Amino acid sequence: MPKHIAIVMDGNGRWATSRGLPRTAGHSVGSEVFRKIATYCKEIGVQYLTVYAFSTENWKRSEEEVGAIMGLLKKYLFEALEKMEQDQIRLQFFGDLSRLSPELQELAKKTREISGKYEGFQANICLNYGGRDEIVRAAREYARRCAEGKADPDALTEADFGNLLYSSGIPDPELIIRPSGEIRISNFLLWQSAYAEYYFTDVLWPDFTPEELEKAIAAFNGRNRRFGGV
Ligand code: IPE
Ligand code: IPE
Ligand code: MG
Repeated sequence: MPKHIAIVMDGNGRWATSRGLPRTAGHSVGSEVFRKIATYCKEIGVQYLTVYAFSTENWKRSEEEVGAIMGLLKKYLFEALEKMEQDQIRLQFFGDLSRLSPELQELAKKTREISGKYEGFQANICLNYGGRDEIVRAAREYARRCAEGKADPDALTEADFGNLLYSSGIPDPELIIRPSGEIRISNFLLWQSAYAEYYFTDVLWPDFTPEELEKAIAAFNGRNRRFGGV
């Protein structure tokens, strides 16, 4: 069983459009699917699930769509707070949350703090997340430390750099899943994906099921991971 699975939750818009529904209906179903898949991952012994919910590029979408996604996020966080005792999932957020509304930032902080006590399974939700943005932020932070005389440019190791990322302390994902038929990574976990196994499927995220996840895990288990060796 992979310790850490990451998923690009893609295809919500197409799922809705193909049914003659507004794109936002797809996001709504997509957030329910996230809840289901997170619970399933916990049950089968996955330790970390990282999901791409909103990218640094998704602000390009209409105000209406962005507003709807933020509204769903608020709803999700309220429900997560209510069901916390039942779910027992530690929630963490990757991304620059400062661009979210103060209310959402507060909710995210509260959810993170209250759920911090749960051990065994952690879900990382990527919000206003970009892999490049994450790396640039880490580089800025290290440069700042050097300028203050607290760090030495020549002493920087890969491990040190990794500790400046949102994923600090979390093992790299072994398996990255992208539904919806797109064969690209769209700025997701650029650093952490160095040796990840990818799994692409045409299934749209709102149609994604635990059975689909099992197929991805089975494919992963059939891979020969060499990490540059023989
Ligand atoms: C993923 O679904 C959710 C977000 C990016 C917020 P999309 O909204 O990208 O759905 P498609 O790709 O247009 O079908
Ligand atoms: C990636 O999906 C981001 C999320 C799922 C949150 P996009 O739909 O934004 O990616 P592109 O535009 O197809 O590359
Ligand atoms: Mg998409």
